[in-house]
Amino acid sequence: MQQGDIEIQDFGQDHIEGAVALSRQENWPHRPQDWQMALQLSSGAVALDDQGRVTGTILVTPYGADCAMINMVIVDRNVRGKGLGRRLMEQAFALAGQRPLRLVATADGMPLYQKLGFVASGAILQHQGKVAAFGLPEGVEAASADDLADIKALDRDAYGADREALIDALTERGEFAVIRRNGAIEAYAAIRPFGRGEVIGPVIAGSAGDAKALIGFFAASRPGAFLRVDTDSRTGIAGWLAEIGLTHVGGGVAMDRPAKNGAEQARPKVYALANQALG
Ligand SMILES: CC(C)(COP(=O)(O)OP(=O)(O)OC[C@H]1O[C@@H](n2cnc3c(N)ncnc32)[C@H](O)[C@@H]1OP(=O)(O)O)[C@@H](O)C(=O)NCCC(=O)NCCS
Repeated sequence: MQQGDIEIQDFGQDHIEGAVALSRQENWPHRPQDWQMALQLSSGAVALDDQGRVTGTILVTPYGADCAMINMVIVDRNVRGKGLGRRLMEQAFALAGQRPLRLVATADGMPLYQKLGFVASGAILQHQGKVAAFGLPEGVEAASADDLADIKALDRDAYGADREALIDALTERGEFAVIRRNGAIEAYAAIRPFGRGEVIGPVIAGSAGDAKALIGFFAASRPGAFLRVDTDSRTGIAGWLAEIGLTHVGGGVAMDRPAKNGAEQARPKVYALANQALG
């Protein structure tokens, strides 16, 4: 097919079914509901062939004015290598405006992103599986609606961007847990249905011990459930995740455009991402 036969349009609700077919082609676990949540938080573009079939997708998820995540970049196998990925990325740049950009690259995506000026800043590790029976950690409690403002403030401080809309979307779908000391929330985590089971993330904590307690809190109430956690290699919790039954199954390279300096890159309190796509 010629490149001219493909039209780029705004990503709308009607494109979700075609988008799910593309992500299944890649063996990505996203259900229609997972695309729905991503689209609720994002604007994006689709490539349509002359039959109106979705042959490419891209989403841009803004976190306030602070930054935007580019995610769900997929081009149908039959039309790769013809510049469609680059066209979708150019559309994403227009949608993101002046915001600094972040993404987590697969091996397939790396060459394209490098050519467009993205620079690697870290390694993201995907862990998933069924957790064996797990004792309930002490000091963790389920969050209440009254905790939401403090959770948002803690998240913004740790992540370095305004993810209020993401946290609101998570409250519609999932549960939150917190660690409270002297009346103040020091750490939080969320869990929501995703893909083959549930994903735990974000996990924001001041220490690996607190991060593990939060993950353990959710795991303890779900013996045998299928869980996923996406973590940065620098958090140091990957080995523990594997020990409790969440095997390392893949991941990607965190990339930024423009490149960040070392201090900006370090987000030591972010123990798990919302997931690889959303950062
Ligand atoms: C990544 C992906 C979207 C690229 O789509 P595409 O339409 O084939 O990309 P393009 O044809 O626009 O290629 C863009 C540039 O990257 C280069 N490129 C693409 N894939 C490459 C590869 N595997 N090796 C080397 N260069 C590559 C092209 O040569 C092109 O360079 P140019 O614009 O200077 O000529 C596609 O491979 C894909 O959908 N992969 C599976 C899903 C995935 O992993 N997505 C990335 C998620 S982060």
